[in-house]
Amino acid sequence: MLRLDNVDCYYGAVRVLKGVSLGVGAGEIVGLLGRNGAGKTTVLRTVMGQIKPRAGRIEMDGNELTALAPHDVARLGIAYVPQGRRLFAGLSVEENLRMGLLVRGSGGDTLDRVLGLFPVLTERMRQRAGTLSGGEQQMLATARALCLDPRLLLLDEPSEGLMPTVVATLLDTVAGLKDRGVGVLLVEQKVEAALQIADRIVFIENGAVAGEATPEELDEDPQPLHRYVGIRR
Ligand SMILES: Nc1ncnc2c1ncn2[C@@H]1O[C@H](COP(=O)(O)OP(=O)(O)OP(=O)(O)O)[C@@H](O)[C@H]1O
Ligand SMILES: [Mg+2]
Repeated sequence: MLRLDNVDCYYGAVRVLKGVSLGVGAGEIVGLLGRNGAGKTTVLRTVMGQIKPRAGRIEMDGNELTALAPHDVARLGIAYVPQGRRLFAGLSVEENLRMGLLVRGSGGDTLDRVLGLFPVLTERMRQRAGTLSGGEQQMLATARALCLDPRLLLLDEPSEGLMPTVVATLLDTVAGLKDRGVGVLLVEQKVEAALQIADRIVFIENGAVAGEATPEELDEDPQPLHRYVGIRR
């Protein structure tokens, strides 16, 4: 479904992504792991069209994304929940969600389905987003992305700052998207959490893909976890 092929990105003169190739299939959850500054967020921003690659190709179901603006990427069914959320703080919960619905022209049934996944938000529809707790804001950011009815969801550290029980709920919700055929590219610092729901892990080091393994393979041989994210199991 999503395919990056040999993507190079620069911030100014600095080459930050070096020939990155990776793919995400329909209904597949791919965990993107690597140390701070490895380039994980840059991969997601590049898919979204926020950064133009200097070389390589990005395709979604055969449509080339490489030259598209972010709103056109969103229209193709790719939703992005950036690191640190980015809600419209002055707007209500409901208004934030309706923004999501507008972009793709999704209807009220989508909103009902999404609210079913995050019941806490139904109680707060009129509250301003900026006054929600951190965990509620994360849920709202994810819910707003789901209001796009995406075929591919890009999540950048969704569990940051959340209580373990909330993390579990959020990850369950993400895992549940598989049944609808939604693909997920998940950046997550909580490596164990990523291993629980991912079908496949891609390791990125210094802007380059350094390896790939399934969670089962990492159970057998945790060496890549040590090498690329500094974790000993
Ligand atoms: N706007 C920018 N201008 C210049 N350099 C940048 C910019 N954004 C990121 N970088 C640099 O690019 C590299 C990759 O950053 P990126 O944010 O993709 O890393 P990351 O893997 O998401 O890290 P983290 O785990 O800390 O979120 C880092 O060295 C970072 O300092
Ligand atoms: Mg990041």
